[in-house]
Amino acid sequence: MINNIIPLKIAGVGYCIPETVVTNDDLTKLYDTSDEWIYTRTGIKERRLVSGNESAVDLGYKAAERALEKSGLKVEDIDMVICASSAPPELYPAIACRIQAHMGIPNDVPAFDITAACSGLIYAMSIARGFIASGMYKSILLVATDNNSRLLNWEDRSASILFGDGAGAMVVTASDDGVDDIISIDIRANGSIGDLIKLPLAGKNCPLVEANDEQPQFIEMNGKEVYKFVARTLPQYVEEMIEKAGMKAEEIDYLIPHQANLRIIQAVQERLGYSDEKVVTNIKYYGNTSAASIPLAMAESVEQGKVKLGSTAILCGFGAGMTWGGAIVRLREGIC
Ligand code: UT7
Repeated sequence: MINNIIPLKIAGVGYCIPETVVTNDDLTKLYDTSDEWIYTRTGIKERRLVSGNESAVDLGYKAAERALEKSGLKVEDIDMVICASSAPPELYPAIACRIQAHMGIPNDVPAFDITAACSGLIYAMSIARGFIASGMYKSILLVATDNNSRLLNWEDRSASILFGDGAGAMVVTASDDGVDDIISIDIRANGSIGDLIKLPLAGKNCPLVEANDEQPQFIEMNGKEVYKFVARTLPQYVEEMIEKAGMKAEEIDYLIPHQANLRIIQAVQERLGYSDEKVVTNIKYYGNTSAASIPLAMAESVEQGKVKLGSTAILCGFGAGMTWGGAIVRLREGIC
């Protein structure tokens, strides 16, 4: 527990999704699958995919502009940009640097990417919280964006059915009323099971060293083992997090989970004893948008009026690493 920290305000959230829709039925043109198989196992009916030159940078930039507008801050107020991405259009420059330039955020402001896969927003919030709490920076733009569709093997029917593209963003700033919008936050990792989901960038050796064929560079996932690990870990983790925060599940208004598989979401929901109204799900329309999944679900559900503001929510996610994390947050009026 850190004492005398500067509290943090979640000032604005935004999201952006590409226009192109690919349904489960569309996927039957690529390989042997069916809408029924995909929907019953995952809860997904369709996903949005980038097209043409559109990338996670464009989606992230649009989500960030919306979050900034809602926050009431200006680009000059932003002291740092952190971007969470696991399927970026380029490894460097960082997406955060690209977005800084696109938005006209002052040129000397630090901007960097983090890789915590689908837990990325929670990791980014945790980093931002440290900087704001210490007084080192006041206002930080967080962007979570992924263009998974460009890094999937579209012949791998087990992984490619799951993912979609999208972006979410959040502006956090030092709170001026003493209220901390992050009631509790926690991040975890277990690298010993890192091979369960990976995106190799193996390249090939220098020809002067020894021959080594270039390997395909696609998202690889052991879906069954990921499922088992998460189903075993997440519900209990979320329950313990609430307990450690000194709260009861019924005191929190909404569950806004990572949208990876509806059955995993339902397992967490069941553990918390929440009704469907308290649980945000949009996986049916977007699939798993990796880092973007939680902020996209948050911003869209607020915009649609499914999540009322002036409320509290528990966010939770897991992803490659394996990483996982959770945050209990206040959602103030006006953030979306
Ligand atoms: O944020 C990222 C986190 N990732 C996840 O959360 C993934 C979690 N895992 C899952 O959601 C599930 O493991 C999947 C939905 C990905 C796969 O479901 P599963 O029940 O674990 O399927 P499986 O991979 O064990 O495959 C079972 C069968 C196999 O056939 P055989 O060998 O039993 O004859 C597969 O070939 O289903 C077959 N199969 C498919 N059939 C139709 C695999 N993918 C498909 C498909 N359509 N798309």
